[in-house]
Amino acid sequence: MQSNSRLHVGIIMDGNGRWAERRGLPRAAGHRAGATTVRRIVEVASGLGIGTLTLYAFSSDNWQRPLPEVSALLQLFRRDLLDESARLAAADVSLEVVGRRDRLPAPLRATVEDAERVTERARGLRLRVAIDYSGRDAIRRAAVRLAATGAADIDLDGFGRLVAEVDHGRGPVEPVDVLIRTGGDQRLSDFLLWEAAYAELFFRRELWPDFRPGDLAEVLHEFRTRERRFGGVAPTHLTVIKNA
Ligand code: FPP
Repeated sequence: MQSNSRLHVGIIMDGNGRWAERRGLPRAAGHRAGATTVRRIVEVASGLGIGTLTLYAFSSDNWQRPLPEVSALLQLFRRDLLDESARLAAADVSLEVVGRRDRLPAPLRATVEDAERVTERARGLRLRVAIDYSGRDAIRRAAVRLAATGAADIDLDGFGRLVAEVDHGRGPVEPVDVLIRTGGDQRLSDFLLWEAAYAELFFRRELWPDFRPGDLAEVLHEFRTRERRFGGVAPTHLTVIKNA
């Protein structure tokens, strides 16, 4: 059983395209429906015991998608950040966008910075949205930064801080407890490779626009029944060993 400390949950929000295609709609309509699911999930996250929620909105490999889809996604991020940041602040949600900033269009970059400023005093849910994000590239850039300091070595916590820093996070982040992927596929797709070293994985069949707060509650309920050993042994086994 898990303790009551607040959880870090990461979500790979997959299935928007298929959701739209099944309805004969353009893929962008699937992303808009996905944004509605984001709002629903953010609203309930804190009440379900989540302290940090990291959402995979746009991977560095997503630049390879057709230009109209990329443009639709970037516009959607900007519009949602403009529309939602005051509401997020009022709900005590702090927003951080993690990932590379240098390839984002300047208006989106400015909107991200504004939304982060507006919500920076919030102390409730820490909402991290990953845009132009690559877990491997974050680790690579942290290694480059370490080499530039001239240090020969660093401990895991220190290196983790570098991984957070290179992606503009608001300071270090707790390890991921729960990693959810919707849409039926079972892979990590370069998401939170450092932070999710001991995450419990949940692969869901629902397409992201169909994922509901009740589905999240179900995942968290199952998570709380799982025994996490972090490479150690279960306490019950320890008793057996002590008595042997
Ligand atoms: C993957 O589904 C989803 C994305 C690449 C975009 C995720 C974006 C949102 C949910 C929009 C809202 C986000 C915010 C933060 C406002 P896919 O397109 O790969 O789906 P498919 O596998 O069915 O093709």
